[in-house]
Amino acid sequence: MRNTLGFLTILALAAAPLAAEGGSDIKGKYIFKKTCKTCHAAGASAKEVTPLSKTQAQWKAYFAAAKHNGGKEPLGKLLKPEQVKDVQAFLVNHASDSPQPETCGG
Ligand code: HEC
Repeated sequence: MRNTLGFLTILALAAAPLAAEGGSDIKGKYIFKKTCKTCHAAGASAKEVTPLSKTQAQWKAYFAAAKHNGGKEPLGKLLKPEQVKDVQAFLVNHASDSPQPETCGG
């Protein structure tokens, strides 16, 4: 019983950050490719950005600050609030130190 409770506590703690973010990984991937990759692909106007560009902690900090382009403009200028959550879910879930790192074709 004690072990079961301990296990459930760990499960609840592990699930909490994902639930709190509430974004859709799948939608985020689509939005990232459609919106962000126009400027952030190899050979495009800004330097290449993929989920692997940062660790999970770094992406979380990035979205907590919610500033884009070296802090010059709010992320909200590029995306609607629900899209910000989706892109965050995608980038955090596939960050360089995540269980499923992904380059998003880039
Ligand atoms: C209109 C072009 C454009 C679009 C669209 C765009 N970016 Fe950027 N981004 C830039 C520029 C310009 C910079 C600053 C120069 C650089 O890092 O290459 C930048 C910088 C960044 C950086 C480096 C850190 C920073 O903010 O200084 C990250 C991460 C980033 N963008 C993520 C994103 C994400 C995520 C999206 C999609 C929601 C996105 N960008 C969409 C142009 C764009």
